[in-house]
Amino acid sequence: MRNSQSSEFNRTLGVLSPAAVLLTVVGLAGVGVSVASSGAFRSEAAAVLPPNAAEYARTAEVAYPEDNRPTAARELLGRTLFFDPRLSGSNWISCASCHNPGFSWGDGLPKAIGHGMQQLGRRTPTLLNLAWSPALFWDGRAETLEEQALGPIQAPGEMNLSLPQLEERLRSIAGYRRLFEDAYPGEEISAARVASAIATFERTIVSGEAPFDRWIAGDAQAITAPAQRGFALFNGKARCNVCHTGWRLTDDSFHDVGVEGDDPGRGRVLPKLKVAQFAFKTPTLRNVASRAPYLHNGSAATLMAVIELYDQGGLVRRPTLSPEIKPLGLSQSEKQELVEFLQTLTSRDAAVSVPALPH
Ligand code: HEC
Ligand code: HEC
Repeated sequence: MRNSQSSEFNRTLGVLSPAAVLLTVVGLAGVGVSVASSGAFRSEAAAVLPPNAAEYARTAEVAYPEDNRPTAARELLGRTLFFDPRLSGSNWISCASCHNPGFSWGDGLPKAIGHGMQQLGRRTPTLLNLAWSPALFWDGRAETLEEQALGPIQAPGEMNLSLPQLEERLRSIAGYRRLFEDAYPGEEISAARVASAIATFERTIVSGEAPFDRWIAGDAQAITAPAQRGFALFNGKARCNVCHTGWRLTDDSFHDVGVEGDDPGRGRVLPKLKVAQFAFKTPTLRNVASRAPYLHNGSAATLMAVIELYDQGGLVRRPTLSPEIKPLGLSQSEKQELVEFLQTLTSRDAAVSVPALPH
């Protein structure tokens, strides 16, 4: 059976498009057929492509909820609010102060700095690809972008503006009255609509096509041979794909991976559940090379530092440590190959336009 599939594969190889060949490889790799001998491939491309490569194919459709349908006017309003520092008590801090598109929608700091230059307890996460995220924050305490959006505006340590003050301010700005009327005709300006509009804008923050996507779509030259070996390690010896799965490279779940510190993470939301203690949300790895430092507390300065943590089986071995985290025994070159693979997840996205703020 193996042989007949193999020769069938070799016969058809010459006439298939690269993409079709790749799909064939994915299918056949599942039954253990070696395709490394095929002359039509760079051998390393075929050799490392694991059976589950298809699981990493991008989802094209943005997931919008039924009760907050997008329109161009809503997106423009949300984008305008997102970049407007007048949503803060000091008139100085906008969502974009911390979620800066230039830092892959983070801030490049180990921990965020908010109102009155206070340092917050956690690092600012990226806003990329949250349209598909079922739980928000490092500890998953919010379920929807609509629910999340008003939190930082009111938080004393972040933007420090009460909702009545927010509504009063926006109603007093003629340009906002027009933007709200275009987005939600006939409705009053309200905090709830601020949240709907910001969430609509956030769902447009999606990472673009990366070299990795071109590679799994059949362009064997799109990523280097070491990066291809890194992908094999990711799915093999290093077992990263136990948690970093799917095209966003996250299982949307929470794990204690052995990061030092006393922040209980998910345990703050679920104090009685043992596996929730010190567990944090698995972050997306899309564009990850663009937003050092890493982890919920910014304690890893580089991707190599994160990989060292995994190689050691975590830096702290608490009883809550995920059973999936064990010493990996990676060589220095294997670690470097993993880093090189992670770098292929970076898309070159169009510049983000910042709207003129209304008066
Ligand atoms: C002072 C910096 C700061 C400002 C300003 C700020 N954020 Fe955040 N944001 C953070 C930090 C830090 C977290 C992580 C907090 C946590 O997990 O406990 C976060 C988390 C989030 C998340 C969850 C992301 C995820 O992966 O789950 C969203 C969504 C978000 N912020 C949107 C916004 C919006 C919208 C605004 C403006 C209304 C805003 N933020 C303003 C720092 C900031
Ligand atoms: C048991 C599940 C699990 C496994 C296995 C796992 N990760 Fe993670 N990963 C996580 C979680 C959870 C975090 C966030 C931890 C934190 O901040 O405390 C994370 C964080 C990261 C980060 C930092 C991203 C950021 O934005 O801060 C990188 C990079 C990363 N992992 C890569 C890998 C690689 C490479 C491997 C394989 C060597 C791997 N992970 C294995 C769950 C996992």
